[in-house]
Amino acid sequence: MSPKIQKVRKAVFPVGGLGTRFLPATKALPKEMFPIIDKPLIQFVVEEALAAGLEELIFVTGRGKDSIENHFDIAFELERTLQDRGKLHVLEEVRACSLEPGCATYMRQQEPRGLGHAVWCARHLVRDEPFAVLLADDLILGGRAPAISELLDLYYQEGSHVVSVMEVPKEQVSRYGILEIEERRGLVCSAQSITEKPQPEETSSRTAVIGRYILSPKIFPFLGRQILGSNGEIQLTDALAATLQEGTPLRGVYSSGRRFDCGLREGMVQATLFCALQEPTLEPSVQEILREWEQEMQEKTA
Ligand code: UTP
Repeated sequence: MSPKIQKVRKAVFPVGGLGTRFLPATKALPKEMFPIIDKPLIQFVVEEALAAGLEELIFVTGRGKDSIENHFDIAFELERTLQDRGKLHVLEEVRACSLEPGCATYMRQQEPRGLGHAVWCARHLVRDEPFAVLLADDLILGGRAPAISELLDLYYQEGSHVVSVMEVPKEQVSRYGILEIEERRGLVCSAQSITEKPQPEETSSRTAVIGRYILSPKIFPFLGRQILGSNGEIQLTDALAATLQEGTPLRGVYSSGRRFDCGLREGMVQATLFCALQEPTLEPSVQEILREWEQEMQEKTA
C-alpha cells in the first residue's frame, strides 16, 4: 500500500429504502431483514465487511427499520431462555450476530431520497476517510474472497474510486449504473464515464455496477448538491460521474463471486435455492422435491 493511501476502516450500509418491489412484505419488515433460509440479507454483508477487516459499521436506516438494530444487539431474554433449555448450538449462533460493543452506529435517513442521499447522510460519521459501501440486496457468494476485499485490494494499489461490476444482458442495462470502459485488464477496468440507468440504445456497454463501492470522502460535496437524477432520486452514480470528470479515476472490478439481485423476487428465489443446494442438510430434500415437481409438470403437459 502506498504510504499516501489511507486505510479503509469504515463500512456504510444504506438500508433506508422502502423496498416497494416487495410490498406488501416490506410494509412492516425491512427488505434487508429478509432471510436466505435463516440468515437475513443484512447479516451476509456485515459478515462480508468484517471478514474484509472493516472495523466501523455505519447503518443508514429509516422508519420501521428498528429490527436491523435489534438483530445485531444482545437479545438477553432469548439468550437466557436458550441457555436454560440447553440449546447451546443455537445460542452460539444467536450470540455470533451481536456486534462488538461500540463498532456500529445507526442513523436515520429520515426520507428515502435515493442511494446517493443515504450515503451523504453518513458524511459526519465517515468524516475525511475513505470508506466502503455495501448494499444488502446485492448478495455476492462463492467468490475467491469476500467481494468487498476484491475492491479493497485494488484501492490499496491505486487510491481511486473502485466499484464492483458485472456484465449484464443488453435489455437489463436500464436497471443499473453502467460504465463506459476505457480499458480492461483481466478483472479490472477503467471507466471513461458512468451513467445511471441508460436506455439500451443509449449505450453499447453492458458493464453494470453492483452494490459494492470503495469511495473517497471527496464524493460528499457532490452528493451535497442534492441534484435529482434518475427516478427523481439523488443518485450515487451521478456523484461518481462528477468526481470522475473532476479527475478522480473510477475503476471497476469484475467480481469473482456469484451475484444475486435480492431486490427482485426472482433474485431472492435463486439465492434461496443456491444456498439450499450448498447446505448438506437441505440439499437432498430440495433436489428430491425439484425432481418430483419437474416430473409432475411433464406429466401435466404430456
Ligand atoms: P434499492 O433501490 O434497491 O432499494 O436500493 P429500495 O428503494 O428500497 O427498493 P425498491 O426499488 O423500492 O423496491 C438499494 C439499497 O439502497 C438503500 C436500500 O435500502 C437498499 O438497501 N436505499 C435506497 C437507501 O438506504 N435509501 C434510499 O433512499 C434508497
